[in-house]
Amino acid sequence: MVRQYSLCSAPSDRSAYEVAVLRENEGRGGSIRIHRELRLGGSVKVSGPRNHFPLVETAKRHLLLAGGIGITPLIAMIHELEAEKLPFRLHYCTRSPVKTPFMNFLGPFIERGDVVLHHDEGDPSKGLDIPKLLSSYESGTHLYYCGPAGFMKAAKQGSAHWPKEAVHFEHFATALDPERAAVPPGGFEVKIASSGDTFHVPPDKTIVAVLREHGVEVETSCEDGVCGTCMTRFLEGEVEHRDLVLDEEEQQEYMMICCSRVKSPLLILDL
Ligand code: FES
Repeated sequence: MVRQYSLCSAPSDRSAYEVAVLRENEGRGGSIRIHRELRLGGSVKVSGPRNHFPLVETAKRHLLLAGGIGITPLIAMIHELEAEKLPFRLHYCTRSPVKTPFMNFLGPFIERGDVVLHHDEGDPSKGLDIPKLLSSYESGTHLYYCGPAGFMKAAKQGSAHWPKEAVHFEHFATALDPERAAVPPGGFEVKIASSGDTFHVPPDKTIVAVLREHGVEVETSCEDGVCGTCMTRFLEGEVEHRDLVLDEEEQQEYMMICCSRVKSPLLILDL
């Protein structure tokens, strides 16, 4: 079982990794196992952290939006912003005060007015009006958001008129929408640039699976397009990106071969 969690400790603290795991009874089982089985003194194998959601150093202001447990990467950002004395405002949306983690940490920022809480008691219409909040863009402001699927959609739509480079987000769950999960018709050929070996990828298999079958080892972790481990450069092919990590510019050159597909008959990987 491999899972990804955002580190929420101060980036400057290299003594430990701190994560917060919401127990998802309807999830894939990872969080339940962590809640039930992980105990003080137990061992967990971890890989090194990756950052696909960094703060932009040149930003004049940082606007952070968190939905529920999507607060975790933003907590790490607040540690950093505070250490650097950079201006920020966090809007933190949760169901109710008791379902609001990190209150001890956030208390002083709430008092200072840098963190604003929004509780909707389960009715999104009573929560933060995201379109209104994002309706005007001020040059120099950078937006960062993370939360559940509906929240991500609202933030994406609300910031559609913002400059692309000023908007940053991270999906914390495998937001597999039906379109992304759909099996495409037909297959395609994948060619390894260094060896010239070419393999057929049928509709029901991933590129990674086919490469492994032929002895080509590729490092993966989530195998669901959310962690970025399998990022691979491609040299040719019309890629249908299905990951939740790469931005448009990166997608011109790289792809996640655990989940993405190809519309053209041939894909050439820089492997
Ligand atoms: Fe996580 Fe591919 S293995 S994005």
